[in-house]
Amino acid sequence: SYRTLDDLDDGQRVLARFDLNSPVSVGVVEDNRRFARHARTVRELVDAGHRVALLAHQGRPGRDTFVTLEQHADILAEYLDHPVEYVPDTYGQTALDAIEHLDASDVILLENVRMTDDELPERDPEEHSRSDLVQTLAPEFDAYVGDAYSAAHRRHASIVGFPLVMDAYAGRVMAAEYEANSAIATREFDGEVTMVAGGTKATDVIEVMTTLRDKVDNFLLGGVVGELFLRAVGYDVGRDIDENDLYESQWLANREKIADLIENHPSDLVYPTDLAYADGADERAEVTVAEVKNKDHDYLDVGSDTAEQYADIAANSEAVFVKGALGMFEDERFSDGTTRVLDAIAQGDCFSVVGGGDTSRAIEMYGMDEADFSHVSIAGGAYINALTGQPLPGVEVLKDDGEW
Ligand code: 3PG
Repeated sequence: SYRTLDDLDDGQRVLARFDLNSPVSVGVVEDNRRFARHARTVRELVDAGHRVALLAHQGRPGRDTFVTLEQHADILAEYLDHPVEYVPDTYGQTALDAIEHLDASDVILLENVRMTDDELPERDPEEHSRSDLVQTLAPEFDAYVGDAYSAAHRRHASIVGFPLVMDAYAGRVMAAEYEANSAIATREFDGEVTMVAGGTKATDVIEVMTTLRDKVDNFLLGGVVGELFLRAVGYDVGRDIDENDLYESQWLANREKIADLIENHPSDLVYPTDLAYADGADERAEVTVAEVKNKDHDYLDVGSDTAEQYADIAANSEAVFVKGALGMFEDERFSDGTTRVLDAIAQGDCFSVVGGGDTSRAIEMYGMDEADFSHVSIAGGAYINALTGQPLPGVEVLKDDGEW
């Protein structure tokens, strides 16, 4: 089992690890649901009168997204409706001074932990617990709250190092994500289990399909994943758009796994029967898959018949897991497949988990209510790990008896 915020006495000095890693465009940090989600955990810590220091990361050294956390503090403060002071230091004297001056319900955000040398090496918890980062910060606090589920697949210092030397608790995001995302691997469902298998990251999705092939009754194929399966059964689809090597490399990397699923699980695979593309006048046009020839278009969504059929299957399932969008929903003309299936899930009463940063954005973009889904994940890589049944180091370290 693991301890949660319910087990934490009020008025403590708390060090909390969040995941506020965000898209950054030309130096500007984009608001996203990670802020809203983590703000709920911080709100609880503030209301319980804790002195709160937050640790988080942004980007990786060498990338454009590797920036300080100054803007993150402002965005978080807005969601929280409470000040969040940005401290331009992670565990040096400036950070220690700021920690020392914390009063009850104060919140500070320490500098991007990936700007320290200690954070990024992938190491075991024992080794990380001896790092300067952990050894310096741990004595300043009474408790550690691990809430960064979406970074829990990384064996980084601030994820796995502290729980070994401090009283550690799972934050609200951590606990909710873990329980929903591992449901497909751990729960038995009486009715049909459906997975929307779409998006552009076909290698990840096909790995998930291969792992879950005995658990899932219907894989609704779409996006790049759908085109690779259509290609495998003889349709001439899947062309690389603008040099980006989405199809060919993923085809070569996955064709054996695809062939294996087609051979051994044919009745679980649901193929698009029609596809949508932009015609000469830039309008949405549709074609049945039987009519597709010579890779003549970039197919950017499943067609209307497919969308209807997929929505029906989702509505009649007991559990639906979404991994990847059925089309390029960012463009409204190609959002039909994705939104119709999400609507069917939202209106039904199945157990539902929507994951993968991109797909969950569709929920927001098209004004759906997050509360109509059992869980909308804010995790990317960690969601894939959970679906493929791999233990997450950042979760494992929080278990006090080896079990959640
Ligand atoms: C994420 O954004 O998925 C996590 O924060 C992990 O980030 P990383 O892939 O840079 O380790």
